[in-house]
Amino acid sequence: MSRRPERLLIRGGRPLRGDVTVSGSKNAALYAVAAGLMTADAVTLHNVPAIADIDEMGELLRALGARFEYVDGTAQIQASELTETSAPADLVLALRASFLVMGPLLGRLGEAACASPGGDVIGARPLDVHLAGFRALGAEVGRRGAEWVARAARLQGARIFFDYPSVLGTVNILFAAALAHGESVLINAAAEPEVEMVANMLNSMGARIRGHGGSVVYVEGVERLHGTEFSVIPDRLEAGTYLLASAATGGDVRITNGVPHHLDSLTTKLSEMGMTVDLAPAGESGGIRAACQGGGLRAVQAQAVPYPGFPTDLHAPLAAALTQAHGVSVVHERVYDNRTLYVGELRKLGARITVGGQSVIIEGGTPLVGAAVRALDIRAGAACVIAALAADGETQVHDTNHLDRGYAHLVERLTALGADVERA
Ligand code: EPU
Repeated sequence: MSRRPERLLIRGGRPLRGDVTVSGSKNAALYAVAAGLMTADAVTLHNVPAIADIDEMGELLRALGARFEYVDGTAQIQASELTETSAPADLVLALRASFLVMGPLLGRLGEAACASPGGDVIGARPLDVHLAGFRALGAEVGRRGAEWVARAARLQGARIFFDYPSVLGTVNILFAAALAHGESVLINAAAEPEVEMVANMLNSMGARIRGHGGSVVYVEGVERLHGTEFSVIPDRLEAGTYLLASAATGGDVRITNGVPHHLDSLTTKLSEMGMTVDLAPAGESGGIRAACQGGGLRAVQAQAVPYPGFPTDLHAPLAAALTQAHGVSVVHERVYDNRTLYVGELRKLGARITVGGQSVIIEGGTPLVGAAVRALDIRAGAACVIAALAADGETQVHDTNHLDRGYAHLVERLTALGADVERA
């Protein structure tokens, strides 16, 4: 979990082939760690990825008075006595998910404070969905210096309409509503598998949540929650990244623990691009395989939208793979307003790719050539890695700390698939 500035050296042109087992979901694990604050009892989480963001979230829990230990994929949390209601500013700046301490603290202690959090530079990232949700549940929400402060003697269940199906917003309001008095209905909630998972985890702690994984979620508030032992779902975004690397390199990669229905939007695109896709039977996790056929890839159109649509986090990796498809592809971004900065990095490798408004236009079939590029955020970094794996010669990917935030054992996993990659 090093945070030193490092480079990846990638000598491209080799098809990726073989099996890869992905880590537990970064985002779901962050929500699960925050959920550890919801009870005084012990919470044990398995399949937690060894990434820097989890370290930071653990630090944040400790700063609030909770115990947090992480060993070999298992996190132990105990928040029996919370000594602080305010999240320290330095940790909040490092991590977008830090704002998730608000719901648990408000629900358990009646007060919570946190500054506007940091996170990747990918567009405006407001908090109105979170704040409106807390207010709807009866909290008073205001500013204290740089912090948002929410207070409520006891939250009251309510019918809450979300202006946007914000992922973290939905999780925060789920936390608060789970400990409120009476029933809440969350309308236009985020349906991402990571949100569904955290609701399942809360139910395993005694919460009464129904409809999660859909856009209308019902929460019957309870007095308190108890401890749990819970396993984090596999990372669909890490899985998607390796499948797109397979596409870009003319490869054949199987994600041994992929959950096919979490990636319907991607596997449909991979089929449209001309890959052969094999899925484990419906409802089972057990694999997603995407293999290139002779004749190369075809261009496609895609729109990045909330789940179950194509994920914004796979927009840049998809665009990188489409540099190798025949014809003109378009990827339209509808979640973030500044997610196209990676385009300049792919151009350094020779990609013919331009931005028009919120659309990225890719003239595919271009031979890429190694160059020095920067990982501007986690997914921009993943796009650079995919393009580098398809390029002739050596690419240096700088600022790998971004990649380390989301991709555990990246070099080892790529090497096992036959890539020529090392850290310098
Ligand atoms: N939005 C609002 N109001 C709000 C909150 C968000 O309008 O109160 C808008 C934002 O402006 C943005 C859109 O909603 O346009 C998406 O934001 P959302 O709140 O859904 O994103 P998030 O919860 O802050 C999580 C992930 C992101 C992922 C998004 C979308 C974490 C820590 N982050 O962010 O992951 O892109 O959901 O799926 O879980 C990543 O992993 O690389 C990453 C950035």
